Amino acid sequence: MALLDVRNLKVHYRTLRGANRAVDGVSFTVEKGRSLGLVGESGCGKSTTVNGIVRVMPKNAFIPEGEVLLNGTDLVSLPESALRSIRWRELSLIPQAAMDSLNPVYLVQDAFLEVLRLKGGMSKAEALDRAQHLFQLVGLDIRRLKNYPHEFSGGMKQRAAIALALALNPKLVIADEPVTALDVIVQRQVLNEIRRLREQLHISLIMITHDISVVAETCDDIAVMYAGKIVERGRTAAVLQNPLHPYTMGLKNAFPDIRRGRRTLISIEGAPPSLLEPPAGCRFAERCPFALDVCSDVEPTLEEAAAGQVAACHRLDEVDELQTRAQEVETWQNVI
Ligand SMILES: Nc1ncnc2c1ncn2[C@@H]1O[C@H](COP(=O)(O)OP(=O)(O)OP(=O)(O)O)[C@@H](O)[C@H]1O
Ligand code: SF4
Ligand SMILES: [Mg+2]
Repeated sequence: MALLDVRNLKVHYRTLRGANRAVDGVSFTVEKGRSLGLVGESGCGKSTTVNGIVRVMPKNAFIPEGEVLLNGTDLVSLPESALRSIRWRELSLIPQAAMDSLNPVYLVQDAFLEVLRLKGGMSKAEALDRAQHLFQLVGLDIRRLKNYPHEFSGGMKQRAAIALALALNPKLVIADEPVTALDVIVQRQVLNEIRRLREQLHISLIMITHDISVVAETCDDIAVMYAGKIVERGRTAAVLQNPLHPYTMGLKNAFPDIRRGRRTLISIEGAPPSLLEPPAGCRFAERCPFALDVCSDVEPTLEEAAAGQVAACHRLDEVDELQTRAQEVETWQNVI
């Protein structure tokens, strides 16, 4: 059984103009000890997906459909009280810009004491001891526990956020853009730290990023999201080597390939569609250089087109030709 099995999860937002179907039926699994990278451009629903998984959502969000099975228990249908005892212990979320949301008038150690004492039932002395251990685990000086959040650099904030997520030994950690705001050198240090901790503590990881090269370095598996859906999923190495979906091909073009020294970055023109009234067919059709008439009318479903690799596209049987064309700058110009 997978540690986490997300089935057809939908997370929508009530707005004055109707429901925004930000996450509209995503499915994926995370096996014990493995890491999954969730990628896609800004607004595609990455944070909404993981906030829905842990059910820490804004008031106007709701889950109309779907299951989130953690070790076989469906978190969607659990009462809030039961979910509270699962968060932090079984799975924990490092929210986007986690440390920036800490109360600036409290010491960093107060955030740790709160979790360790209130959620972990520890005494103050035990909690302080554990907080120091966690700081050492992520390579932070324990004296820094007595700092205020604003006294931390970006990299230190991320390390502290990781330490806090590990407070009660969860089996699954979900990190929402843990390295986005960091410069390249610190980014690398934090990613190395995440890799080391994962191996040392045998934890599973979901890492959200818009940067496909971060997934390439850190995650066993990858799920590519576009406009509230997963359009491709598989082993990271296989997907990046042999992308089946045109959006994945485009995303790959938009980031530097460190190993091959690629210099020309190609961007995908346009923007994702509104999810107040999503298009009937393929949500990528408007920006896809390979769109056919059928693409706007019929929604493609995820199909396995290579071993362990699924994608939702009507042209999966022409993938070799599309990959060749996708590498040319002209292909992506004047599409819309
Ligand atoms: N509270 C909210 N009410 C209404 N719509 C929302 C709310 N929060 C997010 N959205 C919308 O839901 C969609 C998905 O947002 P989400 O934050 O999940 O994207 P994301 O992929 O995490 O983007 P980013 O990379 O910028 O963090 C966006 O269109 C966003 O505008
Ligand atoms: S279904 Fe059509 S529009 Fe969508 S990605 Fe495939 S070719 Fe492009
Ligand atoms: Mg986000």
